Amino acid sequence: MRTWTPQKIRALKGARRFATVTCYDATSAAIVEALGPEAIPLVLVGDSVGMVVQGHDSTLPVTMDEMVYHTRCVGRVLRTAFLLSDLPFGAYQADEAEGLRNAFRLVKEGGADGVKIEGGERVVPLVRRLVEAGVPVCGHLGLTPQSCLAMGGFKVQGREPQAAERLLRDARALEAAGCFALVAEGIPAELGARLAAELAIPVIGIGAGSGTDGQILVWQDLLGLTQGRVPRFVRRFGALGDAAKAALTDYAAAVAAGAFPAEGEAYA
Ligand code: KIV
Repeated sequence: MRTWTPQKIRALKGARRFATVTCYDATSAAIVEALGPEAIPLVLVGDSVGMVVQGHDSTLPVTMDEMVYHTRCVGRVLRTAFLLSDLPFGAYQADEAEGLRNAFRLVKEGGADGVKIEGGERVVPLVRRLVEAGVPVCGHLGLTPQSCLAMGGFKVQGREPQAAERLLRDARALEAAGCFALVAEGIPAELGARLAAELAIPVIGIGAGSGTDGQILVWQDLLGLTQGRVPRFVRRFGALGDAAKAALTDYAAAVAAGAFPAEGEAYA
């Protein structure tokens, strides 16, 4: 079992704000691991893998097999952070039994410590069943990317008073069903703060302002690897994309000049 449990993550509420991040492979998981146990309490293998790794324009095409594969890649290396994995689009909407089976796959085959599910009151029965079965569940409300077709794109949610009240109702229902945390994505900062204030479980925000208990960012976005436009809420904490371009340019020049490999980089 990993160091960070749902109980320890819940205990962070009110004690300190915490940062979480997505990972999709063993290299990034090893980097998180190298930070020590306190820096990043939770890693998400998000279905954002479909966009940032697979090159799709939404998360909709991501399959269960792909989620199991990426969760396993991360899980082989991650020892301390809680490993949360997304149930992808189509893995739980048809019926509860399928949702249960797919969540068990992420735990049994992927090595996940818990699953994340998008949606409000609609997914409450499944959340209850999973929690009863011993699977920790994190909810996901607001701009839920799996609903991008219904929402008409990736649009901020909960701006209207009625929509905000609905979101708060959903959040309370998820908490009552046993979620140990909630991701709130793409909502006004005021609503993010209100959610965090009203719930006893940690609210992890992404594009939800500074008033939430924790934050989550996509690996490629926060490290500056993403090429082109990123959403307004992203801060690039690094410029790894530029560093990669400089390194590749130097590499190509060294090969062209016959300067790589040098004598010490070859076998006698
Ligand atoms: O799939 C994902 O990466 C996510 C985060 C953006 C919260 O759901």
